[in-house]
Amino acid sequence: MGSGATFTAGFNGISTGTTGTPTGFTLNGTACNGDGGPGPGPTPSISATPSSLTVAGGASVTSNLRLSAAPTSSGVTVALTRSGSTAITASPTSITFNSSNWQSGVNVTFSAAAGTTSATSTFTAAASGYNSATISVARSTGPVTGRVDNPYVGAGVYNNPQWRANAAAHGGSAIAMQPTGVWMDRISAITGNNSPTTGTMGLADHLDEAVAQDQANGSTPMVIQIVIYNLPGRDCAALASNGELGPNDLPRYKAEYVDVIAGILRRPAYANLRIVLIIEIDSLPNLVTNVTSRPTGTAMCDTMLQNRGYVDGVGYALATFGAIPNVYNYVDAGHHGWLGWDTNFGPSVDIMRTAATASGSTLANVHGFITNTANTSALQEPYITVDNTTRPSTWIDWNQFNDELTYAQAFRQRAVQAGFDANIGMLIDTSRNGWGGPNRPTGPSNASDLNTRIDASRIDRRIHKGNWCNPSGAGLGERPRAAPAPGIDAYVWIKPPGESDGASREIPNDEGKGFDRMCDPTYGGNPRNNNNMTGAKPNAPLSGHWFPEQFQELLQNAYPPL
Ligand code: BGC
Repeated sequence: MGSGATFTAGFNGISTGTTGTPTGFTLNGTACNGDGGPGPGPTPSISATPSSLTVAGGASVTSNLRLSAAPTSSGVTVALTRSGSTAITASPTSITFNSSNWQSGVNVTFSAAAGTTSATSTFTAAASGYNSATISVARSTGPVTGRVDNPYVGAGVYNNPQWRANAAAHGGSAIAMQPTGVWMDRISAITGNNSPTTGTMGLADHLDEAVAQDQANGSTPMVIQIVIYNLPGRDCAALASNGELGPNDLPRYKAEYVDVIAGILRRPAYANLRIVLIIEIDSLPNLVTNVTSRPTGTAMCDTMLQNRGYVDGVGYALATFGAIPNVYNYVDAGHHGWLGWDTNFGPSVDIMRTAATASGSTLANVHGFITNTANTSALQEPYITVDNTTRPSTWIDWNQFNDELTYAQAFRQRAVQAGFDANIGMLIDTSRNGWGGPNRPTGPSNASDLNTRIDASRIDRRIHKGNWCNPSGAGLGERPRAAPAPGIDAYVWIKPPGESDGASREIPNDEGKGFDRMCDPTYGGNPRNNNNMTGAKPNAPLSGHWFPEQFQELLQNAYPPL
């Protein structure tokens, strides 16, 4: 795939908007308050995110409770008390915050008794010396969908045995049990095509195995992450992950791909799984950034805009899968180094709204969005503050963002403003954005020249953020985990580490994949990476095929380290 093949630096101009303007960016994303306790000054607070929730009868939802300032060394105990209906209960009702959990927070689960009559409870979270927080939880009176707010909370996540075998055989036993995405990258992947990308297991084989993993883990629910990736005219601004369907093959996409997958997902045997679908990477944003109104435009993206193949295809997928009660649809939302400029940000949300209401779909079919899929944009840049002194740097190039966490949280807000459900959550693909290893800076540079300073301070070591193919120096990122930050449902590994982004030279194949020179280390680039060298690793196989040298480097440069 070509996430980021769609960069538009230099064409965004100096943005004067306020989207993403940092509101007091602070080291590690938390207020630096020293570690000696609240101390003098304004009274610190307890916060809850979200503070207003809706839960279906018989289901549960979560809110993240944190402190605004470090507790004293003996810790701070926050007690939750309820007023209003007794139909909703909280767990735990007492939380001790200490130096290791006050910043990341603790999730509280609110469960509603079965039923659809209206019930609202208000919980007060209080501790002496802190302003309290209130959380209002209402039981929904509509049809019970059985969905939970964040499917990852309290759940196990499916480990693909085929990826596990590759990882273990190549020195990756420390991570072989991690959950990764299962890519339905062709029609034949549904039944299993014994290809290097999908191996012997078809969709039902994976789901059967997920049921087995679910049974083995006791009463803990099981999430399985499946990537829906086969639109007509796929990856219209790049070549490495062009697919099997031509630009006018929307009818085949619906009948031979979406409907067939839905038929399998609907089987009663899979009704207890939480099925997370990642919907069509690299599609809708291309209709904003890579059409002829931009210098980065391609003829194929023009075609896909005009013939509605992407918009109607995504709408059809959302409507069809959204009708399955245990499916959670997460739509691809690019990454900050692609959509983080005002000229791309709002228009991308708008086209997602258009797609989510096409082909009979409604906004309710979107459970959330995912950023950074198969890309390597840093989760956080701990040594760079984004403000109007750093935004003119070549690296940031007037983008409103310089990291995925801030971008994902802002994207969520903007999507809610556009009418998506207030409870949507974000996923961030952290499979390859760790950027550890010997070249990782250990603190901010204080060089006086802006570009020298930013380049020496940034953990993302790419030559340019528009580089997306097998970037040299990347490392595994944050290990997958649930509810890591407000608005974020999970850090996930959707791109299975070790699988190539594209061949570094022309390799004939029957997968529809072309040769994209962004995967060629000798190529000097194009407007999408501002004519920089690609930084791609040499000797890369076709996209999706195992790339042992890359896997070794990802292990070595893992951050957090393994
Ligand atoms: C490829 C797919 C592959 C996926 C996961 C994409 O770039 O085009 O064939 O399944 O990556 O590795």
